[in-house]
Amino acid sequence: MGTTNHIFDRMKQREEELLSHINREELPQHIAIIMDGNGRWAERRGLRRVDGHRAGIKAVREVVEAAARLGVKILTLYAFSVENWKRPPDEVSTLMSLLRKYIKKETPTLLNNNIKLSVLGRMEGLPQVVQSDLRRALEATHHCTGLLFNIALNYGGRTELIDAFRKIWQQLENTKGTAPPIDEELIANNLYTAGQPDPDLLIRTSGEMRLSNFLLWQIAYSELWVTETLWPDFRCKELYEAIISYQKRERRFGGV
Ligand code: FPP
Repeated sequence: MGTTNHIFDRMKQREEELLSHINREELPQHIAIIMDGNGRWAERRGLRRVDGHRAGIKAVREVVEAAARLGVKILTLYAFSVENWKRPPDEVSTLMSLLRKYIKKETPTLLNNNIKLSVLGRMEGLPQVVQSDLRRALEATHHCTGLLFNIALNYGGRTELIDAFRKIWQQLENTKGTAPPIDEELIANNLYTAGQPDPDLLIRTSGEMRLSNFLLWQIAYSELWVTETLWPDFRCKELYEAIISYQKRERRFGGV
């Protein structure tokens, strides 16, 4: 017991120390995370892949609360991609039920922390029960003005662009007007993230150097930070390290 307390104290000390290196005036406004490595985390422990997803929920909880406390404006987590339907049916259904449990259990915490929930992706393609739970949480947190927490669900960067072009096409059909200028603003305003600033910082766990069809339009100028840490082990410490690394960089947006 004594040793556990000691380790815990050391972890807290390290977190506090990292926190003191973060400049609150220069926070990334929008942080996006590709949560990867749940399966490997489980396999390394001789557990089932779904146990890795279950353990990943703790990391979700901690990161959402830490981002809200810090004063980050937007946090986007990649929870389920359009490609993830190809996984074994029991893994897909466990992910859906974990999501439902998380939403039901965490809505009061989101409210207490003034966190507004939002969904990026083809929500209509999710099971009806998941959609109902999500709708309830979206309505309940609609008025919140603190952190905007986007969960990317049934999300694909390419499908998002297809959906945006379809919306633009529809607007043209409806107005029977002349074509508006096709520019960055028109496209950005028709993405799932319409009205939100692009991610300043994109974090990926488990060491993979891939974008996995995530926010393809929005990450054009995002700073990338990749950690070997597997998602279930991701904690405040890693979030703070990513922000500190981001704050040391010079962003040039194509300039010099
Ligand atoms: C990638 O790990 C992770 C996922 C596909 C799902 C992430 C979902 C959660 C953490 C739980 C639900 C989320 C919320 C927001 C409540 P992987 O399975 O691809 O890992 P591997 O690459 O090691 O196999």
